[in-house]
Amino acid sequence: MNMHDFVYRNGEMVCEKVSLTRVAQEAGTPCYVYSFKTLVEHLQKLQRALRELDPLICFSMKSNSNLTLCKALVDCGAGLDIVSGGELYRALKIGTDPQKIVFAGVGKSDEEIKEALHRRILFFNVESIPELERINQIAAQERRRPNIALRVNPNVESSTHHYIKTGVGTSKFGLDFETAVKLFKEKRKYPSVRLVGIHVHIGSQITESRPFVQALRKTVDLIEELKRHGHWIGWLNIGGGLGIIYQRETPLTPRQFADAVVPILKGKGLRIILEPGRFISGNAGILLTRVQYIKETPAKQFVIVDASMGDLIRPSLYGAYHKIVPVIKRATDPSTALRAGDRRRTTAVDVVGPICESGDFLGKDRELPGLQQGDLLAVMSAGAYGFTMASNYNSRPRPAEVMVKGNRFAVIRQRETYADLIRGENIPPFIAR
Ligand code: LLP
Repeated sequence: MNMHDFVYRNGEMVCEKVSLTRVAQEAGTPCYVYSFKTLVEHLQKLQRALRELDPLICFSMKSNSNLTLCKALVDCGAGLDIVSGGELYRALKIGTDPQKIVFAGVGKSDEEIKEALHRRILFFNVESIPELERINQIAAQERRRPNIALRVNPNVESSTHHYIKTGVGTSKFGLDFETAVKLFKEKRKYPSVRLVGIHVHIGSQITESRPFVQALRKTVDLIEELKRHGHWIGWLNIGGGLGIIYQRETPLTPRQFADAVVPILKGKGLRIILEPGRFISGNAGILLTRVQYIKETPAKQFVIVDASMGDLIRPSLYGAYHKIVPVIKRATDPSTALRAGDRRRTTAVDVVGPICESGDFLGKDRELPGLQQGDLLAVMSAGAYGFTMASNYNSRPRPAEVMVKGNRFAVIRQRETYADLIRGENIPPFIAR
């Protein structure tokens, strides 16, 4: 099974059938490059593995909200998991059926709630009592009665970065079980909503089955308890979180995930929703970047590239590892090979960006011998939480995005221009002279 469709052909990395050198020539660097095939196959692998449950798979747009990419998934039957009015706007722009949209997040504003109510989305995933009160109140005004899934916090540990753990008791996400039970008991207080679902998401980049199993067992027990008390619950949203391979992880395959969770979920009379992001988009994208300079210092060799933490912040923010490989595999040239006794012989290089921060790096201590100015590098597994977390720090335009399908490719988002950088800014008269 191929993990992705970025492979070497005759010493050059291609995406499906397209040369990355050509993409760089036409779209410029840095740019994100996505493989349609990898993307869609990841969705289909999950769909197949979980067929028994016939779930609604809502792709988590926060991992990648590019219109073309989301449209490709929606066309293959996916729904969308959104967390903002902006993501709702994008979802509707590509014609997503609102009955396949679920809306999560702890801070939904009045405007976001109203918009989602008007569009008749499938579910609001509710994270607190005041949020439930607010949705109930706005729904009454707007004469709507939306479906609500209470997001519960099962208080299970998972071995992932603490910034992206969400299922522990101290996290801002979800409701503890007692509060959830209390809200169901008091549901008459909320007559303008339908309290018919439970949502649970315990974190991201989870590579073992244990936390999923623990969380789902606890949650299914809670649902059974609620049902015994006469509450009708038709839906269980089990969130996202499936990990992928960045370096040497051994994440669950869709089959292993299914083997772990299906027995807990099947035959319970529940419609299942899933919200995977990274699993679908992560390995479907790379960040293509060009070497600007090779800088030697007494201590280190730096490969300065044209991509930065502004384009891909995961290494700087989480200490995340992304494999970095040359687009053209070059046999090490003996004339440039390091001499015996050369200190750098054992010193691998740091791949860094142009931003004025020491934290601006894409990889540290990497074995990348023989690089030269102008070489292209591929930063792997950058399809999830790559572009969506990009910023304009140091007034750098955000990169282009390219979609490859077979032997075709297209720029699906233009590189930003300097004019884009200042769009919306104005100098007020009391400053202007
Ligand atoms: N559902 C909910 C409620 C979530 O909060 C998330 C991710 C997902 C689904 C999708 O999770 P996934 O399947 O992608 O693991 N920026 C971080 C990841 C933050 C995840 C936030 N929530 C990173 O770059 O690793």
